[in-house]
Formats: sequence, C-alpha cells, structure tokens
Amino acid sequence: MNIEVYDKEITPELMGLLLSADPDEKAILSYLSGSVVLVYRDNDIFVSIAVINVVAGVFELKNIAVLKKYQGKGIAKSMINKSKQLAKESGAKAIEVGTGNSSLSQLALYQKCGFRMHSIESNFFDSYPEPIIENGIPCIDMVRLRAEL
Ligand SMILES: CC(C)(COP(=O)(O)OP(=O)(O)OC[C@H]1O[C@@H](n2cnc3c(N)ncnc32)[C@H](O)[C@@H]1OP(=O)(O)O)[C@@H](O)C(=O)NCCC(=O)NCCS
Repeated sequence: MNIEVYDKEITPELMGLLLSADPDEKAILSYLSGSVVLVYRDNDIFVSIAVINVVAGVFELKNIAVLKKYQGKGIAKSMINKSKQLAKESGAKAIEVGTGNSSLSQLALYQKCGFRMHSIESNFFDSYPEPIIENGIPCIDMVRLRAEL
C-alpha cells in the first residue's frame, strides 16, 4: 500500500476528509501548518489523510480520515502504522492521539493499533461551535491515548 508524504496544497477534497474527523476548520488550519501530512490515493482519488504534528517533542496524530466508500478495509490501520513508523524514524519514543469520549469506533481502532489510554482533557469540546453527539452520547471530554514506539 503506497502511503505518501504530501506537501502540496490542501484541496477541498482533502479538507472534506479532514472535516469528517474534526468539524472545527479553524483548529484544522492551525495544526496543519508545521505538520507532516500522509495521504493514500486510489489513482486520482484521495482516499485517506493523516496529519502528524510535533509540539515540544510530542508527536501527535491530529487527524485521520478515510473516504466513506473505502472504510472497513484496514486503510486507517495502515495509515496509523505508517504514522507510528514515521514518528519512530524521527526519534520519537511515543505517539499520542486524542478522540472524543463518544467516539466508540475510534477508541476501538486506536486500541487495536497499540494505543493505551493515557489521560482525559475534561470539557475539551465545550469550545466547539456546535454540540457533537455520537452513538447517542454527548461528546464533552477528550480521551488522550498513547502508543510507545
Ligand atoms: C475512523 C476511521 C478513520 C476508520 O477508518 P477505516 O479505514 O474504516 O478503519 P480500519 O478498517 O483500518 O480499521 C477499523 C478497525 O477498527 C475496528 N472497529 C471499528 N469500530 C469498532 C467498534 N465499534 N468496536 C470494535 N472494533 C471496531 C474494526 O473492527 C477494525 O479492526 P479489525 O481490523 O481488527 O477488525 C473512518 O471511519 C473515518 O474516516 N471516520 C470519519 C473520520 C473520523 O472519525 N476520524 C477519527 C477522528 S478521532
């Protein structure tokens, strides 16, 4: 599977993918600068994107998304493995990811990819412009997970 480092402009198609993972466009634009972006394409279709940011030496997977039609085929797992490999090659000892308390599938996915729960940022999503409900659960707190590399 050919996952590439992408250093060109974020197209509307890619922004659509990023917004499917994080509805806060302002936040996306702020963490995109200075991040490493990985993409996976099927010919000329952007199928998946992952954004890895480094702040004060901490590597964090800030965003990951797979086009709906391609979900459930192991693409996110491959993108996460590639992100872990890239962080390790850059000298990181661990990589972190944050997700909502209500994001049950994502919590499953990250734990299946070797992440363990690390901390909670209470009320993190209070600042989001619209309330988020997933699986019938209000999304309020950020669950931070970490994988040792
Ligand atoms: C989350 C997302 C990236 C997953 O992408 P994907 O390519 O479908 O995921 P994969 O096929 O690689 O892997 C999914 C794994 O999670 C598991 N999983 C998903 N939901 C699960 C659940 N509710 N319970 C248990 N396992 C679950 C799958 O079983 C699979 O593991 P397996 O291969 O061991 O069976 C994709 O659904 C997406 O883009 N969603 C919208 C954006 C988003 O929410 N991004 C994350 C923001 S935190």
